[in-house]
Amino acid sequence: MSGTSGSETLWWQSGTVYQVYPRSFQDTDGDGVGDLRGITERLDYLAWLGVDAVWISPFYRSPMADFGYDVADYCAVDPLFGTLEDFDTLIAEAHRRKLRVILDFVPNHSSIAHPWFAESRASRENPKRDWYLWRDPAPDGGPPNNWLSNFGGPAWTQDPATGQYYYHAFLPEQPDLNWRNPEVRAAMHDALRFWLERGVDGFRVDVIWHLVKDEALRDNPENPDFLPHQPGINRFQQIYSCDRPEVLDVIAGMRAVLRAYGERVLIGEIYLPIERLVTYYGPDLTGADLPFNFQLIQTPWRAEAVAALVEEYEAALPEGGWPNWVLGNHDQPRIAARVGEAQARVAAMLLLTLRGTPTLYYGDEIGLGHVPVPPEWAQDPWERNEPGHGRDPARTPMQWDAGPHAGFTAGIPWLPQSADADRRNVDEMRDDSRSILTLYRRLLSLRRDWRALSVGGYRGLPLPPSLAEAVFAYERFGEGETLRILLNFGNTEHRVPLEKQETWTVLLSTRSGRSGERVQSEITLDPDEGVILAPALR
Ligand code: NOJ
Repeated sequence: MSGTSGSETLWWQSGTVYQVYPRSFQDTDGDGVGDLRGITERLDYLAWLGVDAVWISPFYRSPMADFGYDVADYCAVDPLFGTLEDFDTLIAEAHRRKLRVILDFVPNHSSIAHPWFAESRASRENPKRDWYLWRDPAPDGGPPNNWLSNFGGPAWTQDPATGQYYYHAFLPEQPDLNWRNPEVRAAMHDALRFWLERGVDGFRVDVIWHLVKDEALRDNPENPDFLPHQPGINRFQQIYSCDRPEVLDVIAGMRAVLRAYGERVLIGEIYLPIERLVTYYGPDLTGADLPFNFQLIQTPWRAEAVAALVEEYEAALPEGGWPNWVLGNHDQPRIAARVGEAQARVAAMLLLTLRGTPTLYYGDEIGLGHVPVPPEWAQDPWERNEPGHGRDPARTPMQWDAGPHAGFTAGIPWLPQSADADRRNVDEMRDDSRSILTLYRRLLSLRRDWRALSVGGYRGLPLPPSLAEAVFAYERFGEGETLRILLNFGNTEHRVPLEKQETWTVLLSTRSGRSGERVQSEITLDPDEGVILAPALR
């Protein structure tokens, strides 16, 4: 069982976050790529849906080698997405609707086109040489160590200007910055302040656990569990190239910059096992407010495995550390593709009833699945380096209506849309009581209405072993309210016992037409059904 929180909760604790991948949300100028004005146009939709904050993936000036995760100017909007004025309008319009705006901050690496890198590579004596990670070749002329790029191949590229290698955890077009250098920290803090002054409510920090590398650049050890179908990066355990202890001090520095502006949130992107993940709250909670918890993405979709995961995570959280949950993002296969359409509804109920801040990924609310992208249409550089691992199928444009290109663009969309876009779109689904969109909206609305759901405590409920294989049961409670959540991860019916003396009302089911039903002694869950129960008023 884990704690309820007092009434002093912050917006990013009680609220929900919605991720927009700006290339794919709404295009307004017909170039087939979404833009900032498009996001502004759709703010009413987000308010209607009932989320509290929108996190926007990068829109900074960039050559787009990694679609904006290669920044050439941290304080400018790329013309593809619009102007700084468009951004100011977006934030004003969002705030008018009580929606918070979270930016994506990409401090681990810049673009190769950033003027800092142009200076750094010019000569070994350049004052910015040490802003990036340069090393002499190994004695055999090869890279300085065995570190690999996350997108395939070595993580070191030799630069002819000086003969030295520079390090890049991702593409050669994304050189890693040297966060041990105080000038880099100061420059990055200035970039944070630039956006904080414009009113942003927080940042999601890209690959935050990568920021500091082993000072001696020791070789990473082999991974004994590596399987040939996995991406090459998995060949080694990345224990020296990331997750170094010094990173916590760097994060505390960023957090201090944000705190000077009041209630701003710092979210850190971290792919690590739970025991490492929770260290990113930092000593005395001086680290990330929300170290992104991707465990639901990585855990097998089985009731017992998910129940065990929740227990483990809750138990590992430091005192005062606020939990959070994520089901999908622009780097992962869509949840509906991973667990199927019926279970995607159960997943929605899980995400929005667990304790902690949920992050929704655009399009999941209409059940977008894996959209096939023909090889000749592939966009993601990772797909070109390591075919089969690319992320395009989870980045396809949002589907708004049954018109041409589902209302996303008047031009040709940069990625294809789903074959059922004429039915799977917001317009068609918003008034359909059975749609997954309606389910998401109801869940978000319940989360607002019941503090037990948004900020209450969590308690797992034991079930007989035969049931626990398929059903995950828990309660959320606080301020005299208790809600019970029962999720059937299986595709057969299950009868779940309830206390004999208690009558419950179905607040919401993942299948429609059940709200208001009263149950006593037991409830029968349909295949793939989840329910939220409240004690019935006698
Ligand atoms: C994580 C981002 O989410 C991903 O899209 C990007 O390719 C890498 N970081 C590199 O910035």
